[in-house]
Amino acid sequence: MREAKTQEAVTAYWSARAPHFDGVASHVAQSALWREVLQAAFAADGQKDVVDLGTGTGACALIAASLGHRVRGYDGSEGMLAVARAASQEAGLAVEFEKAVIDEAEIAPASADIVTIRNVLWTLERPMAALHQAHRILRPGGMVVVSDGLWSVAPQYRSTYAPELAARLPLHDGLTEPGTRRMLGEAGFGEARSWQHLFATPPYPGGVPMFVLTARRA
Ligand SMILES: C[S@@+](CC[C@H](N)C(=O)[O-])C[C@H]1O[C@@H](n2cnc3c(N)ncnc32)[C@H](O)[C@@H]1O
Repeated sequence: MREAKTQEAVTAYWSARAPHFDGVASHVAQSALWREVLQAAFAADGQKDVVDLGTGTGACALIAASLGHRVRGYDGSEGMLAVARAASQEAGLAVEFEKAVIDEAEIAPASADIVTIRNVLWTLERPMAALHQAHRILRPGGMVVVSDGLWSVAPQYRSTYAPELAARLPLHDGLTEPGTRRMLGEAGFGEARSWQHLFATPPYPGGVPMFVLTARRA
């Protein structure tokens, strides 16, 4: 499978899941918890420019907007974005949603204070390129927020990608906190700080190891 074909297959998968994604995703059931944790992790003194990469149905983008920030969300799947746009309209939150794959998104350099990437790196063929993109679009001192988990250990979270597609994705089994800290360092970020201890109850029932890390661009 070539790179363009891999992205096509990933996008098609998410477009097919889009109408039902919010019904099963724990971020909806746990959105109040996520709001508390992201608010603490953002440590924002005032309104910030937030970019959500791989925004999906816009869960993180909408939380950031509800906290008063100016938010842009990017995703490769038009189906996921349609759900995100409807949700932002229903909530009365102004978020700019745009269809773009992360590496190719035309986002002005140094135009964001905060970049969020939640549950996206595992499904990328080139996860480091997404971290480089985050670094490029952040202002000096700006912060990336990465959250993900070791999805392969829990049957209910294991991906259902076809084996041929899964084999193209280096982090398909999921991410660990130490591994992600190393990746953030390689992408040029400063020391990472973890926030998952702030969840009053585990955000993914079933005890899948997950993390929320922040790291700043020097
Ligand atoms: C598991 S969902 C996570 C969505 C959202 N971040 C959340 O936390 O609910 C993964 C999302 O990544 C998107 N995605 C996958 N590869 C992408 C790429 N290269 N560029 C942009 N979006 C991508 C998919 O379309 C899907 O919406």
